[in-house]
Amino acid sequence: MALQRKLSVWGACRSFGLDEAEAMMAGVGRLLVVDLDLSDPATIQSARTVLAPHRRRGTPFLFLLRDMSPRCQIQANALGAKAILPVAIPQPDLLDKVGSMLGVLQETGREAAQQQRFVRASAAFADLLEAAGSGDVLPVQAISDGVEAINQAAVDADLDAWLDLVWRHDDATYQHCLLVSGLVAAFAYRLGFSEADRRLITSAAMLHDVGKAQIPLDILRKEGPLTAEERVIICRHPQIGRDMLVAQGGFAQPILDIVLSHHEMLDGSGYPQGIGADRISDPVRMTTICDIYAALIERRSYKVPMLPEEAFSILIAMGEKLDRDLVRVFGDVILGTAVAQLGKTLAVPASRDSEQAA
Ligand SMILES: [Fe+2]
Ligand SMILES: [Fe+2]
Repeated sequence: MALQRKLSVWGACRSFGLDEAEAMMAGVGRLLVVDLDLSDPATIQSARTVLAPHRRRGTPFLFLLRDMSPRCQIQANALGAKAILPVAIPQPDLLDKVGSMLGVLQETGREAAQQQRFVRASAAFADLLEAAGSGDVLPVQAISDGVEAINQAAVDADLDAWLDLVWRHDDATYQHCLLVSGLVAAFAYRLGFSEADRRLITSAAMLHDVGKAQIPLDILRKEGPLTAEERVIICRHPQIGRDMLVAQGGFAQPILDIVLSHHEMLDGSGYPQGIGADRISDPVRMTTICDIYAALIERRSYKVPMLPEEAFSILIAMGEKLDRDLVRVFGDVILGTAVAQLGKTLAVPASRDSEQAA
């Protein structure tokens, strides 16, 4: 299951046992990643039968071996392996290999570097969400690798390329985290943040929904409207996330603030505390804007994605709830100056008093 989530960086991915493989593999076509114990003759026999039709169809197989002995490698080759890797291979290398076997990962050049960064960030999210879901210590090194990758994309002004890659990801949670982090990094870069501050806010964006790892999946993935009870449960994720980070220790105060307050609104109508503009910092305001925008443009099988212009006009229409000046600059980041101008036109002439009090 964990492997399936990681590989979904390259598109839809399903996992199944050898005993259910025949039925489930009827429509599989692009690549088979095979993780079996090839020291067991019975497994080899079953694998031969199950893989035969796919081999005839020309589907490439990538074998992951626990035992890299010549004997097991010969077995894998005999079963039709196009590539063989040790099962303990570092995740980014595995994802690179799968990407190149699928033909979606360029071998060289600028686009290749961008894709590599995306794979690194995606692998970091895999580690982060797995640890958060199972109550393990959050992998600080993986987070900083991901932050590095995302910030480099922002510096290269590759937001569009980044988004193209985000849409390939089949897992909604990864898609959301990657999207918010990429947007926040580009936003901070546009605002002239120092490298250290960009690192800080991008780390916070990576972690902003970490509390959702402890919300039941049937609520998180529900496609229809939530009941009042379910809403109460989901609204706990900022506090759960902050508590996780505090319990682990070592996370800077601005990160804790963003994780706790990214659903707060300047007019006090947000959650979990209902605080107002005077207690909401600029990095929190920026993350909130990116989070709302990301939720609007995300691609789901059950809904038509909103166009960037439409999503931006919703941010504008939120008026006093969001920081109007920051929303305008954000328009610049995502749409270019023409729509940022639209922001100026649509915004109600403001008494900025309440926000100035911040
Ligand atoms: Fe959230
Ligand atoms: Fe979020």
